[in-house]
Amino acid sequence: MASNPAAGAGSPGSGAPSQGAPARPGEGVPARPGPAAPGRPGGGEPVGPGRGATGTAAAAAPPMVLCEDVHKWFGHAHVLKGISLEVRQGEVVVIMGPSGSGKSTFIRTINALEPIQRGRIVVDGIELGPDLHRIEAVRREVGMVFQQFNLFPHLTALQNVTLGPVWVRKWPRRRAEELALELLARVGLEEHAHKYPAQLSGGQQQRVAIARALAMQPKVMLFDEPTSALDPEMIKEVLDVMRELAASGMTMLVVTHEVGFAREVADRIVFIDQGMLLEEAPPDRFFREPAHERARRFLSQILHP
Ligand SMILES: Nc1ncnc2c1ncn2[C@@H]1O[C@H](COP(=O)(O)OP(=O)(O)OP(=O)(O)O)[C@@H](O)[C@H]1O
Ligand SMILES: [Mg+2]
Repeated sequence: MASNPAAGAGSPGSGAPSQGAPARPGEGVPARPGPAAPGRPGGGEPVGPGRGATGTAAAAAPPMVLCEDVHKWFGHAHVLKGISLEVRQGEVVVIMGPSGSGKSTFIRTINALEPIQRGRIVVDGIELGPDLHRIEAVRREVGMVFQQFNLFPHLTALQNVTLGPVWVRKWPRRRAEELALELLARVGLEEHAHKYPAQLSGGQQQRVAIARALAMQPKVMLFDEPTSALDPEMIKEVLDVMRELAASGMTMLVVTHEVGFAREVADRIVFIDQGMLLEEAPPDRFFREPAHERARRFLSQILHP
């Protein structure tokens, strides 16, 4: 968990607009053969893998996120053992796996919160290898939402959301506030803009955290168990915001055990166990007949606890 809330804000930069970003022509087709993922619910006709598949010319389009043979050690503990994953623009990938399997560590490598010791990570063409020399460039592209919301307690919702644009992007305050109010409205909190985190429910705080990450206009959003610290009645309001974000075309990697959300929104489920990616499948197939014994056991635990 990052102690600095600003880290959770993803960092800022001149990314694509986060709202309703249209697919770029020619993107959205898998770079390698595989089963077609279902079209996005609520996103119109099924269009093949991920949203925004607009043509076969895109077969060669680079993925938005590319992880190749990613290895990570904490001291002697080898916690990521060669994970490879591609995420295309507009895709939603849900990461599942047992506690301690490396899900958080993996997702944190994608915005360089965790350095890797071997392998490659490329985000929107920006290479992030073991030396982390492109760390700021990558963070401009990637927003992150944590289980604990990490808002600044002494700042209002509006101030939390404007912080990144003002300090990192150097936007004039008025422009940052306009964007922040738009984003707070988008997550259903326009009436709470001037409240402090302690005056907001957990679900509302998490929605502020999502607005804060979006204020940096990231191209990719990472979510690490965004609803697992919430009371059940607040989970839906956060998942609804994430659904809307997915339907708008955002590329998302989401660690969650919310099976309903994963079934409905994910293009692919990725199952990680003991630092290895054991299985990748469309949700239909993953939940109906996971190929791997370990995934079957995991699912039986979360579906019938
Ligand atoms: N900062 C750290 N220092 C040392 N070991 C760590 C650190 N962070 C994680 N680990 C270890 O790395 C492994 C993977 O942890 P990680 O938090 O990525 O798992 P996870 O799949 O997210 O688990 P959970 O579902 O409980 O959140 C675990 O064995 C954990 O103890
Ligand atoms: Mg975790």
